[in-house]
Amino acid sequence: MIRHDPRLKGFASDNYAGVHPEILQAIADANGGHQISYGDDVYTEALQDIFRRHFGDRARAWPVFNGTAANVISLRAMTAQWEAVICPETAHINTDEGGAPEVAGGIKLLTVPTPDGKLTPELVDRQAWGFGDVHRAQPKVVSISNTTELGTVYTPGEIAAICAHAHERGLLVHLDGSRLTNAAAALDVPLRALTTDAGVDVLSFGGTKIGLLYGEAVVVLNPEAATGVDYIRKTFMQLSSKMRFVSAQFEALLSGDLWLRNARHANAMGRRLAEAVRDLPGVEVPRPVEANAVFAVLPADVTQRLQKRFRFYTWNEATGEVRWMCAWDTTEADVDAFAAAVAEELGVQPS
Ligand SMILES: Cc1ncc(COP(=O)(O)O)c(C=O)c1O
Repeated sequence: MIRHDPRLKGFASDNYAGVHPEILQAIADANGGHQISYGDDVYTEALQDIFRRHFGDRARAWPVFNGTAANVISLRAMTAQWEAVICPETAHINTDEGGAPEVAGGIKLLTVPTPDGKLTPELVDRQAWGFGDVHRAQPKVVSISNTTELGTVYTPGEIAAICAHAHERGLLVHLDGSRLTNAAAALDVPLRALTTDAGVDVLSFGGTKIGLLYGEAVVVLNPEAATGVDYIRKTFMQLSSKMRFVSAQFEALLSGDLWLRNARHANAMGRRLAEAVRDLPGVEVPRPVEANAVFAVLPADVTQRLQKRFRFYTWNEATGEVRWMCAWDTTEADVDAFAAAVAEELGVQPS
């Protein structure tokens, strides 16, 4: 039974989208007979080679169910009980994970305000101090997200500068790559250019937002940076018994160019949307549109009317800023219909 109108799409999040048909097919293909449970299946074994191809010979991946878990497991594996994680104030681990790093992981976050969601070596130093002071949680990890929560993209050079700076101070670097595919597609670089080659130690790699049914992965790029991931994943309730179905999805995403096709498309829809609304009187696009997120400031009554027609979130009630996300399945027609609705609710006459 279909309980919703499959023609309706919104701009709330890339995880409102469904499952890419090639991913669904991979799940169906993996479905016959029995396979050993808990990750000792042939799909999970094959996955290691695929991750090594993208991220280098030392990479090892641990599939998990969701991105919050990938982050918390990564950070727990990188820190001792007395150590802490430096991150932007806007980081997903700080704002949108219900306190999971603190509550489930027991991890202290040391946050830094940033203008655009991005850390720099100078901003890292706002919290990289107090080493050896028994009264201060000891900084151990710098965590950045690419793309960031504000839709911006770190370049390989920016990440390399953060990693070099962090490593000089004995800090490790974690990258929340819930949308790493979008960042790589935006810059037209391989996934490893933004991770392994830049010096990132541990990555949370995102699959759900780019077409998987579900599935993210903890990817350890520097084996010296994380310990106990096998055990932490289990005690954090993220060891999937039917792991073959998570791994088969990642194989479909990463063995060919599906990740790139999906990411390029979502980014192109973001650009199309930004261009369509940017010059409308009453709309401001206050942040650079570098991947698949468009932020806009609208009059509150316009937002309210639009939200009755299309789903999207208000980012900041005080400023009237909203966030529009494009997904792998957003079409040009979806964007054009939405942009036309924005114009209509603003009272702009079609030219
Ligand atoms: C940057 C970032 N990291 C992590 C996550 C967490 O993913 P999940 O909702 O699967 O736990 C999200 C989800 O929105 C995200 O945007």
